[in-house]
Amino acid sequence: MNVTGVVLAAGQGKRMHSKLSKVLHPLLGREMLLYVLEAVREVTNTQPVFVIGHEADAVREKLGEAARVVVQEKQLGTGHAVLQVKPLLRGNTDLVLVTNGDMPLLTSETYQRLITAQKANPDPITMLTVETEDPHGFGRVVRDDQGFVQCIVEEAQATPEQMNIRELNVGAYCFDSDWLWEALPQLGISPKGEYYLTDLIYQAVSEGIKVQALCLEDPTEAIGINNRVHLAEAEALMRQRINRRLMLEGVTIMDPQTTYIGPEVTVGQDSFIWPNTYLLGKTTIGEDCELGPNTLVHDTRIGNGVKVLASVLENAVVEDEVNIGPFAHLRSGAHLARGVHMGNFGEVKSSYLGPGTKMGHFSYIGDATIGPDVNIGAGTITCNFDGERKHPTKIGAGVFIGSDTMLVAPISLGDGARTGAGSVVTKDVEPYHLVVGVPARAIRKLISGE
Ligand code: UD1
Ligand code: CA
Repeated sequence: MNVTGVVLAAGQGKRMHSKLSKVLHPLLGREMLLYVLEAVREVTNTQPVFVIGHEADAVREKLGEAARVVVQEKQLGTGHAVLQVKPLLRGNTDLVLVTNGDMPLLTSETYQRLITAQKANPDPITMLTVETEDPHGFGRVVRDDQGFVQCIVEEAQATPEQMNIRELNVGAYCFDSDWLWEALPQLGISPKGEYYLTDLIYQAVSEGIKVQALCLEDPTEAIGINNRVHLAEAEALMRQRINRRLMLEGVTIMDPQTTYIGPEVTVGQDSFIWPNTYLLGKTTIGEDCELGPNTLVHDTRIGNGVKVLASVLENAVVEDEVNIGPFAHLRSGAHLARGVHMGNFGEVKSSYLGPGTKMGHFSYIGDATIGPDVNIGAGTITCNFDGERKHPTKIGAGVFIGSDTMLVAPISLGDGARTGAGSVVTKDVEPYHLVVGVPARAIRKLISGE
């Protein structure tokens, strides 16, 4: 049986007061609509369809190959939005799961319940409801004396009595496809001049159809994002969910309130996360690590047994048993091999530091390839930029760089080379030679291998 997801995401989201389409606003660094996309994909077996309109190009680009898109040129209501999908889906799917692009907290489990219930339903509609004390603008679910759903009334049209109803329309439905495409074009126009998908419920009931309603077990899933206050609320809930999952999987989070972990991040068993730590993007963390406090890790791969204190890591690779910080900065392309020690006030960009290399204090390493067991003295700088271009630095195994050495790139230092404190090295250094001064010159050959 084919089930296809249809996600409504054409609206402008006026109340966000933003240049950005509402569904492109991020929660924990990932755009709202990608949460919806992922949840829908998990429970459907055809490519989902997004109805887009506002900022259509930006939304289409973000979805990429993961979804089909249909453009709703004029936003004439949720019913009109779904109708735009008819040419694409009629005859091509059995069930249609409709949901909103601004409800990122709805889980795939909930969508699955909705689909399973509809599969067993002889009638063509199953809808999702929520019971909550705060109706924040949702449509009210009106039931008849026998408890059958009669209609959904939007807040603007509700009578005072209906306003008190606490069962609300979430805006997610599973329809029999053939029925939906027959019924949808018959929708009347609302007093506001829109075609409301919700009016389909009344239309169905008047044809003698029984509308099945499932109530959400966790009402927080129904939080829809209409303004930036909702965005912050939803993000906090998403954060709690992620932190809770990781804790149950064996990660210690000392203070979940101040720990910000993105949806795609993985953290290995027995890792320990101190407060005020941010793990975002496609970050992976191994086992037995200790991260934070006050640490930001973005799109970075970290191995096992790594310690990072009060540092910023972006787009980097950190192998096992590395020790970083406090106050270190790994920028894009930094790769620290096993057992590297990087102390305070260091910056590494587009560089490889070999196993066991130590860089204790105040250094900048950029565009460099550094061998194993190198000692990078305090204040070492790779002068990689001549004002126009960047140049590489190569440092062999076991090199000892004296404090305050300037390595003027392009430059290469052979295995076992040494530089004296304060050297400005402008020429390549032979293996096992000591250079000193400004500019640095060789003063002696070191005994090979010592
Ligand atoms: C809708 C429901 C309401 C429900 C609420 C839950 C209707 C008429 N009302 O109200 O019963 O309680 O959702 O969130 O359906 N959209 C389009 N094209 C349009 C209009 C809307 O794609 O022409 C999209 C929006 O981008 C949004 C979604 O549909 O993602 C819902 O639209 P919105 O205007 O937010 O509806 P609500 O007023 O919240
Ligand atoms: Ca809404």
